[in-house]
Amino acid sequence: MSDKIYVFDTTLRDGEQVPGCQLNIEEKVMIAKKLDELGVDIIEAGFPVSSPGDFKSVQAVSAVVQNATVCGLTRAVKNDIEVAAEALKGAKRPRIHTGIGSSDIHIKYKFNSNRDEILERGVEAVKYAKRFVEDVEFYAEDAGRADIEFLARLTEAVIKAGATVVNLPDTTGYLLPTTMFERVSYLMNNVPNVDKAVLSMHNHNDLGMATANTIAGVQAGARQVEVTINGIGERAGNTSLEEVAMTLKVHKELNCYTDIKSEMLYPLSRLISETMRMPVQANKAVVGRNAFAHSSGIHQDGFLKHAENYEIMTPQSVGVDKSDIVLTARSGRHALKHRLEVLGFKLDKIEIDEVYKNFLELADRIKEVNDKDLVTLMKEMELVA
Ligand code: KIV
Ligand code: ZN
Repeated sequence: MSDKIYVFDTTLRDGEQVPGCQLNIEEKVMIAKKLDELGVDIIEAGFPVSSPGDFKSVQAVSAVVQNATVCGLTRAVKNDIEVAAEALKGAKRPRIHTGIGSSDIHIKYKFNSNRDEILERGVEAVKYAKRFVEDVEFYAEDAGRADIEFLARLTEAVIKAGATVVNLPDTTGYLLPTTMFERVSYLMNNVPNVDKAVLSMHNHNDLGMATANTIAGVQAGARQVEVTINGIGERAGNTSLEEVAMTLKVHKELNCYTDIKSEMLYPLSRLISETMRMPVQANKAVVGRNAFAHSSGIHQDGFLKHAENYEIMTPQSVGVDKSDIVLTARSGRHALKHRLEVLGFKLDKIEIDEVYKNFLELADRIKEVNDKDLVTLMKEMELVA
């Protein structure tokens, strides 16, 4: 029996915090509907107390989302919680996400406080949020750098206070996957009431390990993942939804699944990139322009013989039409011959050798040879289709 992993999308909250990526209400509603269609379980729609615009966005998203839980972020502050509860009133399944810093660095330098006081404030915030909604998620900000025994105590206390989910953010993207595994395992084994709540992964990507850390947390027992489309988010970003969803799909041995309709990933990635004015790097896993593009001769030859030689998932499984063979000066005869055949040119071995020579000269000059360039080359060589 495989375990369901709940996908908590925070593109509209943590993702939208990126400078230059702000969205208006209409754009937020449009994206929320797409996320609902994609199959995410929870949509974090915003931080209602932060601005009147964010409050209205959370209200508007709450009114249109049909299936997913709609969540609003708060600090462990009564007014934040009241405002979030008000914004979420129209949601079919509302969730308040409240919390406070849990590392000694945050406790001392953000809150000028101590562990006991922080624990008390966390518990009070959960109890207060429970007056408005049944589903309350608690975040222990900077959990990645928190003292693990204190984190266990805090987790136990907020679950006792009624938290349905405990989020353990690696806010600064500091942890290693092995350490994340050990820390989540510690909580699974040392928090007596851990079975009464879901542990959640919320990892930032400062060292490029957000996805690896999230999967490590899942392997240790976390059952919710907090992610954004294209990994968009503060600084180096959040964990990317598409990477986690496809890792869980490709690695059957993890015995976990999500309800993500993976064929929607690529179109949605493009939509978010355009709407948020944030380009996706070409070599981005799963949704980058080159994710299914093969350019060296050895890879192209292997791919053309059997796609699985160089692909661990099909492009169609993430909504990309087909793989791409990019013709450059690193390409081999096999790829050139294949492309010429697709274009209708049937050539014998001697002709191919001749074309290949000219092709390499052209590719050295113009870097990437497209179909139009190839047809021109063939015409120049007086070889017709
Ligand atoms: O990174 C973080 O710690 C957060 C919390 C507010 C959930 O985004
Ligand atoms: Zn975050």
